[in-house]
Amino acid sequence: MEKILAAHRHQLGNFEVVDVVDEAEIARLRERIDIDAPVNVHWTWEYGSEVAELRRLYEKGKAGQWNAETDVDWDGVVSKDEWVLNPEASALAQLVQMMGGNEATQKAAAFDELGFTISQLLHGEQAALQLCGQLTNVCDQMDQKFYAASQVIDEARHIEVLSKFLSHKIGTIYPIGSTLKTLLDTLLEAEGMRYKVLGMQTLFEGMAVGIMDMLRSESRCPLFSDILYRVEQDEARHAAFGVLNMRRIVRDSSEREMHEMEDWAFAILETLNANQQLDMLRTLAPKYGFEPEMIVAGFTQMENFGELNSRPYMHTVVPNLLRLGLITDRTQDHWMRLGMMTDAKGTAQSVLPIAG
Ligand SMILES: [Fe+2]
Ligand SMILES: [Fe+2]
Repeated sequence: MEKILAAHRHQLGNFEVVDVVDEAEIARLRERIDIDAPVNVHWTWEYGSEVAELRRLYEKGKAGQWNAETDVDWDGVVSKDEWVLNPEASALAQLVQMMGGNEATQKAAAFDELGFTISQLLHGEQAALQLCGQLTNVCDQMDQKFYAASQVIDEARHIEVLSKFLSHKIGTIYPIGSTLKTLLDTLLEAEGMRYKVLGMQTLFEGMAVGIMDMLRSESRCPLFSDILYRVEQDEARHAAFGVLNMRRIVRDSSEREMHEMEDWAFAILETLNANQQLDMLRTLAPKYGFEPEMIVAGFTQMENFGELNSRPYMHTVVPNLLRLGLITDRTQDHWMRLGMMTDAKGTAQSVLPIAG
């Protein structure tokens, strides 16, 4: 299959990046707000429970509800003048420090980067809300529809809590990055339950859990930690729904279908990885006197690039794909070569251009 955003790729040293730089093209991607999403509406007349593990998950979902307005202590202060995360958690702040920038500038850079990251999570939550709504239609069984419906309200709450945190505490909601927008559109446009579950539930929910967990472990801000903790509890159920569904999908798939899913999963996350945060860096790096491509070239050539870069992938997505048989000997080397996967010893292969 052709690489996603093929026209916006080029080599940066040994690494192929995806970088949409044309302002008109970025605007076009963002203004594409009506997406043709093929959804098959599937009735069922079986109202009793058929899949006990899904029904249990639905019960957990009901019990795990919380109110973003009243359960969160919104009095917590978030300030540009304090470290919201540990300094090491911000690539931009570290660069500012390396170049001799003072602590106030480092804090400002970290604050901007965090605002950008949370904004992208927020846009991802909106995609999850819309896609999960589609799942209530395409799922075969009532247990699946029940669970998907409970996830819809979870995703609405995540949008509520993250948008409130951004508007009231950070002060900015950054627009969606063009790579993320392209990939989320690809998931929303994907046909059939198999790809919707794989794309959103397995790939993006898995990435989101990895990123949120990393943010929470670095957080110095009780309000932000509390929000992340609450959202992560929900996301863990969503990921479980994805895995339970995917196990059944995998069981019913032919070898050809498995290969297609394996290649598609790789194509999606390879594109995300190929952006190397250039969408964020194009927005923020110049403000601090940095050139985005220099930063990415420096990072991808680091000796421990694979180890650092693979962390959010190795947290949840890669182990799940391995368990499902959706990373096999056929593709494993590509994941490792691009710094998205390490072996059991935590080492990745060196970064080499990927053929084809
Ligand atoms: Fe969510
Ligand atoms: Fe979710």
